[in-house]
Amino acid sequence: MSLLEIKNVSHSFDYPLFDNINFSLSEQETMAITGISGSGKSTLMHVCSTLLKPNKGIVKIFDKDIYNLADKQLINIRRQDIGIIFQTHYLFRGFTANENIELSTLMTKNVINDELIEKLKIKKVINQKVGELSGGQQQRVSIARVLAKKPKIIFADEPTGNLDPTTANEVINILFEYISEVKGALLLVTHDDKLASKCKYKKNLSVNGLIGG
Ligand SMILES: Nc1ncnc2c1ncn2[C@@H]1O[C@H](COP(=O)(O)OP(=O)(O)OP(=O)(O)O)[C@@H](O)[C@H]1O
Ligand SMILES: [Mg+2]
Repeated sequence: MSLLEIKNVSHSFDYPLFDNINFSLSEQETMAITGISGSGKSTLMHVCSTLLKPNKGIVKIFDKDIYNLADKQLINIRRQDIGIIFQTHYLFRGFTANENIELSTLMTKNVINDELIEKLKIKKVINQKVGELSGGQQQRVSIARVLAKKPKIIFADEPTGNLDPTTANEVINILFEYISEVKGALLLVTHDDKLASKCKYKKNLSVNGLIGG
């Protein structure tokens, strides 16, 4: 069974972004979306991850046509089954790193995995307010927050954008290990070709909205 299936998906805002996109991801499969700034990578990720209904086409998660579900069912999928790592990480600044991670596990009743916190190297800052952390530390807290709830599909929009190459590599490896551990799927937005080549599939969005790769 495919975890994520995209059929004939097109979307435009002021100009067409992408047209007639098709792909599917099964257990343990990963795909990179590449393309220059403004080509529609984040938009495509939002379409695939329940956040934006496309102008045309079907998005299926676990074989369910998500944009034809009742709101409650859609919210349940968003809460339980998928994890979204945003390009700009939305953490609650007045809360500590730990509290931010706890918030996501509250909804799914999972416990925070200490090993994950250590691997992401945020143990030292876990009780600090998020507003006091560096951009890269905040990015790792937001990744911990997403993985802590144990979703089956991970959507990651430039998850290593704020990180130095060494830390970026470690964080990416954590994401790949996670996917293989839970037999999940990963959709990774990146402009880094080296990173993209670690994924099984690659889709390149070009500026005029036509698909190249
Ligand atoms: N909600 C919106 N309403 C109108 N236009 C939008 C909206 N969201 C995105 N756009 C436009 O769609 C285009 C693609 O945006 P998107 O954020 O998907 O690009 P991107 O490939 O992720 O770029 P980057 O690499 O800079 O993150 C941009 O021109 C953007 O201004
Ligand atoms: Mg983007």
